[in-house]
Amino acid sequence: MNTTANGTVLAGAEKEQPHRGGMTRSSVTPNNRFLYQTISAFATLVQYRDAYTSGHQQNVSDLARSIATELGLSRNQIEGVRIAGTLHDIGKIAVPMAILAKAGQLSGEEFNLIKTHSQVGHDILKGVDFPWPVAEAILQHHERPDGSGYPRALEGEAVILEARILGAADTVDAMASHRPYRPAKGIKHALRELDVGAGLHYDHAVVKACRYLFMEKGYKLLNSNATI
Ligand SMILES: [Fe+2]
Repeated sequence: MNTTANGTVLAGAEKEQPHRGGMTRSSVTPNNRFLYQTISAFATLVQYRDAYTSGHQQNVSDLARSIATELGLSRNQIEGVRIAGTLHDIGKIAVPMAILAKAGQLSGEEFNLIKTHSQVGHDILKGVDFPWPVAEAILQHHERPDGSGYPRALEGEAVILEARILGAADTVDAMASHRPYRPAKGIKHALRELDVGAGLHYDHAVVKACRYLFMEKGYKLLNSNATI
């Protein structure tokens, strides 16, 4: 098995099922082995720099993959969502730790710096010829269906489904986690936030799938003690 620092990144590469419309997993070819190893290296880079973001990326990756599965996406799309989740905040390496870990309220200037991370993540990965829209999903993961997101204020389905899934999964894990500036708010609070924002900040179908996972299927975030 191709293991990684966190033991999760390469798990998908070993399965034997075919993807629809993309890579096949009937064998791990040298090329896609390098691909998964490179993804793992990027994830490890984040782990050395910022343990919170590393754990957050793993949690978002797993929840986003589960939502994509619940929505009935193809195996290939599910894998793309999983990989985009694994790397979605990689652009935070360009944000000073003093800002990422700040306990007090962020100034407007500091928040604007944090907001650059989706563009930076895109720019880091845009030259990688992934068989999935990884760089675009990362660029769009803070876009919102009502146009209130960033960096381009895209609306509705102009936000690709992969990014809409990441946006909801990102919110759930962020709210369920303790942050330097606030205590954890918990899963119930996060699911309520998704419900209130359904159709505005979050895709209706994605919200429904996410709620179903936690409430009916007993889903739990990977690196978290958060319970319903
Ligand atoms: Fe983000």
